[in-house]
This record gives sequence, C-alpha cells and structure tokens, in this order.
Amino acid sequence: MLKTLLCSRLGIELPIFSAGMGPIAGPELVAAVSNAGGLGVLGCTSMSPEEIRAVVRRTYDLTDKPFGVDLILPARIDQSGTKMSDVAELIPEEHKKAAQSIAEELGVNQNSAVSNMDRNALGTDAEAQIEVVMEENVPVFVGALGSPGFIAKRLQDAGVVVMSVVGNTKQAVSVVKDGAEVVIAQGTEGGGHTGHVGTIALLPQVLDAVDVPVVAAGGIGDGRGLAAALVMGCQAVWVGTRFLATEEAGIQGWQKAGIVAAADQSPVISRSYTGKRFRMLPNKWTKAWEDNELDPLPMPLQPVLTGMTIGPLATDRGGKEGISMNGAGNIAGLIDSILPASEVVEQLASEAEACIARLSSNVAQQGEE
Ligand SMILES: Cc1cc2nc3c(=O)[nH]c(=O)nc-3n(C[C@H](O)[C@H](O)[C@H](O)COP(=O)(O)O)c2cc1C
Repeated sequence: MLKTLLCSRLGIELPIFSAGMGPIAGPELVAAVSNAGGLGVLGCTSMSPEEIRAVVRRTYDLTDKPFGVDLILPARIDQSGTKMSDVAELIPEEHKKAAQSIAEELGVNQNSAVSNMDRNALGTDAEAQIEVVMEENVPVFVGALGSPGFIAKRLQDAGVVVMSVVGNTKQAVSVVKDGAEVVIAQGTEGGGHTGHVGTIALLPQVLDAVDVPVVAAGGIGDGRGLAAALVMGCQAVWVGTRFLATEEAGIQGWQKAGIVAAADQSPVISRSYTGKRFRMLPNKWTKAWEDNELDPLPMPLQPVLTGMTIGPLATDRGGKEGISMNGAGNIAGLIDSILPASEVVEQLASEAEACIARLSSNVAQQGEE
C-alpha cells in the first residue's frame, strides 16, 4: 500500500529513509533500516575516505539491501582537502581566547579534548570522499547543504542515485538544475542543520517547483507524519530524530534518554558547534555562546574552533554529558521509548497504513451522507 515509484526505482519496500546523521547513523542503524524494508543512509561527513570505505564495507556485511551515504557538501568546493590546522590559523585570536575560557569554565580537560588537527576540515574533502562511494558501488548518494553539481554527472554515470537535502524552494530548484534526481525537503523543525521554513509550508511549494520525486523531512516521527507526506504527494520520508532513540543509534544512553525526556519546545537552534544553524538540545556549550559577546564564526571556522577546545564534532559517539553536540528536532516531544530500529520502521508503516485507510473510509462515509 505504501510502496511508491521511488521505492520501486531504489529496490526497497517502504518509503522510509533513515537520515544520515554523522557517525550516529552507522552501519548497525543503516542495515537495520534497510533490512526492515526502508533505506538506511550512512552519515559520513566527518570521515576520511578510508573510514568511509570501512563503514560501507561493514554495512555490506550486515545487509544485502540498498543503502546510501550522506555527506555535507561545502558551498564552495575546496578540492585540496584543507586541514583543520590550516583553518585554525584563520580563527581570530579573540575567538580562540573566548572558546578557551568557556572550555576552562566547563572543566574540559584541554589535552584530552583536542581533535586531530591533521584531519580535513568539515566539508573540504568531498570529492575524495565521493570517489569511495562510486568505487564501492553504493546505490544512493545524499548531499546536504551545498550543491552536488561538481559531481552529479559522474555519480549518475556510475549508477548512483543522487539526492539533495534542501531547506527552501529556491534551493530545491537549484539542486535539481545541478543534477539532483531526488529532493529531500527538510522543514525547520528537523534536527541538525536547518532552515527557516516549516515542513507543512515547504512541501507543497517544493512539490510544485520541481519535477523530480520529493522526500519529506523535518518533524516526521510516526505514521501520521508518513501518511501526511504521502497524501501531499511526497514519495518517501527522511527521518532523523525518531531514529536517535533506537538501540542501534551511535549515541550514548544519556543522549537517547534526553530525546525521550524532551518536550516539543526543548530543542533550540544554535550556531555554536558548526557555525551554521543546528537544531539540538541545549547544553553548557550552547548556553555559554549565547551569553558570550562574540558571535560564533561561520563554517568551517567554528567547527574547527569547537574541535580545538572541547573535542571533535564527532563527540556523538563516546560523547561527554553536558558538552557533546546533541542534535534533535521538535518531534522529540513525541518520542517516549528506545526501540530497535526495525520496530520504528514497522510502526511508521503500519500506523501510516491505518491512517490512510481511516481517511479513505471517512471520505467514503461522508460521500454517502
Ligand atoms: C543528531 C543529528 C545529526 C545530523 N547530522 C546530519 C548530517 O551529518 N548530514 C545531514 O545531511 N543531515 C544531518 N542531520 C539532519 C537529518 O539528516 C534530517 O534532515 C533531520 O533529522 C530530519 O528531521 P527530524 O530530525 O525531525 O526527523 C542530522 C540530524 C540530527 C538530529
């Protein structure tokens, strides 16, 4: 009942994608979602090409179903793979001092916190990362933030379906012009990097503006959200926050408990980790930047500053309570249990089927009256 044309094209049974969410969306989560009939997508942004190869191969060990790789693409492509240490030199001294004094106040042990500064800065090695996607025959590539234009044709020639995450209609039109074959439209209520337009306003506008399949994202956490997206004309949903509270998600138990405890208005938007608007549960680092007279720097400066002072952005895995980045969307208020990811997929599908059946019978009854 729920299988869409996009599902058929991808070779999956259910129109449910788990969102790429940095290392949180690792092989275990992705394989569980794909094995349950959806499409799991690995979050590979902060990984080196060889790390991506390793997680892709691990995923192939766990599933023979289709899956994808998600990367944050930079607005301007820097092919050289700029190192964190190069970016660090561009950070103003006053920001370094401010960040250090915040870290000291928070009691962060500077020596154990600092990232490996030889790594490439966030979003500066995309071409080499995507090369691995093609070499390993990953069936789906998802690009977030920037345009896939520099690589879309090569990906398509290699048989990879190219999808782009967008936050407004103008971006949707632009990524399709640049080669995206599927648009994932994420409303502001979504967890992680986020725009300004709400999901229910965004979807019909994007559906009208592009002639490729549209996938709904932002605030979808149960079958009612999935049914609504399908009724609007979307061909699948891209779900992040709901999959954080699963057994397979690569975050700490206290972070999962935080999602379960959160109310709808608990997540806030902060630029304090990545320099871009990121919806997350607040913590000491976000609050300290709110109180600071200096604004966070733009990407990629702020994530390097964060990495230099409180540790790598990939603190989701092995994260420190109170300091680790804790992405979550407004749908967190609906989530009251930590489940196996396969159960989340099954619940989403069965609730959506029930909703659509209820709607059809209500409409039919009203027609008879
Ligand atoms: C903790 C967290 C990390 C995220 N990291 C990424 C990422 O690395 N790449 C990306 O494209 N989107 C990322 N996102 C956004 C999701 O892909 C997705 O668009 C969003 O979670 C959908 O809204 P929802 O949280 O309401 O389901 C992240 C979201 C969360 C909650």
